[in-house]
Amino acid sequence: MEMITAEVMEKMIAFSHSDGATLDEINHFLKVFSLASTIGRCEGLSPEEQQTLEIAAILHDIGCPYCRQNFGHTKGLYQQREGARIGKEFLADVDIPEDMKKEIVDLIACHHTFHRVKSRVHQVLLEADFLVNAGEGEKYHRVIGGFRKNVFRTETGLALLEQMYG
Ligand SMILES: [Fe+2]
Repeated sequence: MEMITAEVMEKMIAFSHSDGATLDEINHFLKVFSLASTIGRCEGLSPEEQQTLEIAAILHDIGCPYCRQNFGHTKGLYQQREGARIGKEFLADVDIPEDMKKEIVDLIACHHTFHRVKSRVHQVLLEADFLVNAGEGEKYHRVIGGFRKNVFRTETGLALLEQMYG
């Protein structure tokens, strides 16, 4: 893990704690980060893509506590929108290029959007998030077959899906 990424992880754990996130929510992004990092490296992403992916994986659900507290749920469209807003503020003083910040915010804004995959980084983030969600909730576990067929594209992601849930 790059030093900046480690600093983002540390800052996100502290932010989550003060923002009312549950321990399950903190554990969720730790797991998504780990699988996204693994898939990205195995799929040969560039160093820039890998760093973008890893920071987006840490931040992808940053809107969830806010949505739960203000709307009473964490439905995809709401937490994508609020997460992008909160993620942009979070990244303001993080020492990465502006275009990388913009891409990370865009990824937060589409991490529940499966029908229009914008990039390899987006693809890997969707796969890593699903691999974790399938182990955390019946709602996702029930749709593994559909996701295998319609969402998963990378060789590594497909292998992990099989090894974890096959
Ligand atoms: Fe997630």
